[in-house]
Amino acid sequence: MEKLIIEGGKPLCGTVRISGAKNAALPLIAATLLAEGVHTLTNVPDLRDTRTILRLLESLGITWERQGTTLKIDSTNLTYSEASYELVKTMRASVLVLGPLLARLGKAKVSLPGGCAIGARPINFHIKGFEQLGVTCRLEQGYVDAEIAGRMQGCTIYFDVPSVTGTENLVMAAALAQGTTIIKNAAREPEIGNLVDMLTAMGAEIGGRDTDRLTIHGVERLYAAESEIIPDRIETGTYLIAVAATGGKVTVTDCNPVHLPSLLDKLRAAGIEVKETDNTIMLDATGGRKLKGVDITTMPYPGYPTDLQAQFMALMAMSNGVSMVHETIFENRFMHVAELHRMGADITIDGRTAVVKGVGRTGFNGAPVMATDLRASSSLVIAGLAAKGRTEISRIYHLERGYEQMVEKLTALGATVWKEQE
Ligand code: EPU
Repeated sequence: MEKLIIEGGKPLCGTVRISGAKNAALPLIAATLLAEGVHTLTNVPDLRDTRTILRLLESLGITWERQGTTLKIDSTNLTYSEASYELVKTMRASVLVLGPLLARLGKAKVSLPGGCAIGARPINFHIKGFEQLGVTCRLEQGYVDAEIAGRMQGCTIYFDVPSVTGTENLVMAAALAQGTTIIKNAAREPEIGNLVDMLTAMGAEIGGRDTDRLTIHGVERLYAAESEIIPDRIETGTYLIAVAATGGKVTVTDCNPVHLPSLLDKLRAAGIEVKETDNTIMLDATGGRKLKGVDITTMPYPGYPTDLQAQFMALMAMSNGVSMVHETIFENRFMHVAELHRMGADITIDGRTAVVKGVGRTGFNGAPVMATDLRASSSLVIAGLAAKGRTEISRIYHLERGYEQMVEKLTALGATVWKEQE
């Protein structure tokens, strides 16, 4: 296993290019199962998670090739309909093949993901939606065994809570159903808009993009098409917060500022200068300005993203004020707190709220810490970059699931950071 070593205390400066979004690439890759032929996806990040879903596609009989950031996937020979526990346990998003397999083959057997470090994360909304579309779902020996004779039938689906991959799974299934499906209280994350655009390019008829009510008029066939993955808003936010934490000045390029309304507002409220163009964000935290404490509450898009909660908490722990961090999406997403304590943070947890008493940028010292999940890991990287001295982060395979070339990108911004075998 590898660990990440950071010699902290240096402001990040320069320019960093953002990669394609992990959480858009995963559903778009799964969507290629819906139509035979050669699909082209561009701006695809090369991450542990994108490699996992490609391995899953291979296990279903699909072939693919990558040239740089372009992926060509030939979905013609879709021969198998089972996603094994071995693959699903390493990446929950594997469940995204359920909808496409049902739509194309009328059957799918997908391992139940089980819990993960940030919460129980059930898939009951997905299953309820498939059943409403006419699918018979049996839960047996840790697998969802789903089947339908003929096409799924359009229906109205309501989410108790907006679910990102739930919305994606059901939109993909409904695209090939008979009749019209309406999804109410649908998630509105930009990655879903990216998927809707891809499905539309493939011949699907979908109304209500970017709203909480999607109307899908099922079609008989879809066709292979070309689609571009949107920039990763969580990677963008992570770099912005890292620059703010180190008191640096960086221009983030190839991003979409429109997808980060809440974070940019919070950064400005903390006293940081942020300037946007169509596809760049310049953040200036130089001049030794003190950070103000700012409260955040995680919410479905366009609210503050849970995937940037841990990183912002690390920043607030270095502020000169007090802030409240309220996590409403996942019940166990404060695993980074105990690790941040080891570096000097003063944070108290009360249920789903963390009270963060800022200790100032100089209050953080490097320490050995442990990564527990993807976004918790990036908060430790941020803390390590800002802290005095050496931080060693073990279990960094979590980071590699979602951040492309993080060591290279940080090094180019002036950080002293490298990987070592544990
Ligand atoms: N939920 C249920 N039942 C379901 C589905 C969801 O109770 O059937 C609950 C969840 O437990 C949670 C809430 O609904 O409390 C929202 O979960 P959602 O389904 O939206 O999460 P997800 O689709 O499993 C995606 C991202 C996550 C991100 C969340 C929230 C992908 C591949 N994953 O997960 O990303 O945190 O939405 O925005 O898109 C990450 O990238 O680090 C990551 C965890």
